[in-house]
Amino acid sequence: MAFAQLDSILCSLLFALFSLSAVSQTSSNITLGTSLIAGEDGSFWASAFADFAFGFKQIEENGFLLAIWFNKIPEQTIVWSANGQNLAPKGSKVELTSKPWFQLVDPNGKQIWNASLSRIGVVAYAAMLDSSNFVLLGQDSQKLWQSFEQPTDTILPRQVLNQPAQLVARYLPTNYSRGRFQFKLQDDGNLVFYTTYFPIDLVKLDYWSTQVLGTGFSLIFNLSGYIVLRTDNGTIISTISSNTLYSTQDFYQRAVLDYDGVFRHYIYPKNSGVGIGSWSTFSITPSIICLLVTEAEGSGACGFNSYCTFDGTNKSCQCPNGYSFIDPSDVMKGFKQNFVSQSCDQTSRETDLFDFHEMPNTDWPLADYEHFQSVSEDWCKRECLVDCLCASVLFKNGQCWKKKQPLSNGRMDPSIGVKAFIKIRKDNATLVLEDINRDNDRSKLIIIGSTLLSSSIFLNLVFFGGSLSNYISMWPQ
Ligand SMILES: *[C@@H]1O[C@H](CO)[C@@H](O)[C@H](O)[C@H]1NC(C)=O
Ligand SMILES: *[C@@H]1O[C@H](CO)[C@@H](O)[C@H](O)[C@H]1NC(C)=O
Ligand SMILES: *[C@@H]1O[C@H](CO)[C@@H](O)[C@H](O)[C@H]1NC(C)=O
Ligand SMILES: *[C@@H]1O[C@H](CO)[C@@H](O)[C@H](O)[C@H]1NC(C)=O
Ligand SMILES: *[C@@H]1O[C@H](CO)[C@@H](O)[C@H](O)[C@H]1NC(C)=O
Ligand SMILES: *[C@@H]1O[C@H](CO)[C@@H](O)[C@H](O)[C@H]1NC(C)=O
Ligand SMILES: *[C@@H]1O[C@H](CO)[C@@H](O)[C@H](O)[C@H]1NC(C)=O
Repeated sequence: MAFAQLDSILCSLLFALFSLSAVSQTSSNITLGTSLIAGEDGSFWASAFADFAFGFKQIEENGFLLAIWFNKIPEQTIVWSANGQNLAPKGSKVELTSKPWFQLVDPNGKQIWNASLSRIGVVAYAAMLDSSNFVLLGQDSQKLWQSFEQPTDTILPRQVLNQPAQLVARYLPTNYSRGRFQFKLQDDGNLVFYTTYFPIDLVKLDYWSTQVLGTGFSLIFNLSGYIVLRTDNGTIISTISSNTLYSTQDFYQRAVLDYDGVFRHYIYPKNSGVGIGSWSTFSITPSIICLLVTEAEGSGACGFNSYCTFDGTNKSCQCPNGYSFIDPSDVMKGFKQNFVSQSCDQTSRETDLFDFHEMPNTDWPLADYEHFQSVSEDWCKRECLVDCLCASVLFKNGQCWKKKQPLSNGRMDPSIGVKAFIKIRKDNATLVLEDINRDNDRSKLIIIGSTLLSSSIFLNLVFFGGSLSNYISMWPQ
């Protein structure tokens, strides 16, 4: 009796599952001649269960991104995009037509993007599938183009990347143009993370790789939430993420090469009620990015004059004492010193005006310009203090390294075991140059200083400020 009941429950469960998966593979068809207009309400196509949608997302006032996003969560997180390099103005249109089958054109009819078919064929219709794959299909339902084969920075459960394939990090969390990091499944089988010669789109340094060569490799994000690199006979070469805790049934999942060069597997509870859920990080690769990115030319994992920290989830680009953002909206642009540089005048070296801030376990490898052995810490600091070119010194076991600006490849990590001393101006004078605004008839140099009045540099600053505003006022208004 009990068994029979169980059987029938199992049966109906299986049936429900089967019909579910059958339906989820056939969303409503998008027929030839159908289009979406950027800026019009409801300018998207949702998948059958509405988990995903394809359409326009407004990124800036007159800039739209043709994208696929999670459609049932308030964040509407974007998982794929076509034109991050070149946003579409309002009124742009994406249309399924005859050749070119699927294109995005601006209001003047100029093409912004098109889908180039991966197989020769005649497109009959398109569909936004519940797997998050947007597909162009032939009459025989053969997939002629799929967003799964043209990933941007994200992969999703059910997605398979075959050799060769790549993910390109976006520039900033809210800027979808190509950024500074890439993740490639190469022709040779190697799966590699790269920094690039940004803004040139060539790879520079590989900071993580599987180093297994071969053919027939694929990167698979399966429904159990595993992300693995496999050979075609099923041998696992590398496990990027193994999610045994959170099912794809109950959790939305995505894996992204984030703008900061870290590949993160994220999960989001599906039934958390509106507004309660959020993305959390399930796993990260590589886990020690700050230590791995050491570029002979370039700033490293963070911008110049910065240092990288990693707390197990978040990579952060920190600002040394005495320095400040070059661009607060883009930490990768690095930091600038916010005090007046030391005088190189041999008669007034200003050694009494500078001091050091001690930073344990911090290093800027490859920024050295001098190295001394068998010296004391005091000697090392003194040597930097009398050298106007010296930005920082490192000291360990009688060894002293002088570092020059811009400081590069900065990192702070318990494994470093080197003490850094960064040189800063003692009086804490900070110069804030207001935006040079052409509407203002004169721009000002504001000098903030705690001990300026008693100091001789006050006069210097006033002189400097005065001559700068003279200079500015000479500019055409
Ligand atoms: C979509 O079109 C294909 C080919 O014409 C057809 O086989 C399929 O049943 C259609 N699906 C839906 C949901 O209309
Ligand atoms: C599609 O775009 C590519 C550039 O991305 C261009 O070279 C090609 O000519 C376009 N194809 C059509 C049919 O417009
Ligand atoms: C995104 O960043 C790139 C590179 O700095 C820049 O050229 C572009 O204007 C930015 N796009 C947006 C929408 O801010
Ligand atoms: C996903 O991959 C893992 C590791 O290969 C495997 O143990 C698991 O059975 C796979 N799950 C599915 C649904 O294929
Ligand atoms: C699978 O392929 C790899 C190389 O691609 C090979 O080393 C391994 O022996 C193969 N395993 C099986 C079970 O065939
Ligand atoms: C990582 O950063 C996110 C967003 O900035 C924050 O919500 C989260 O708490 C941070 N995680 C850790 C472990 O610090
Ligand atoms: C400057 O002064 C402020 C407040 O007195 C202090 O918090 C800050 O650490 C000082 N900065 C430097 C570079 O000494």
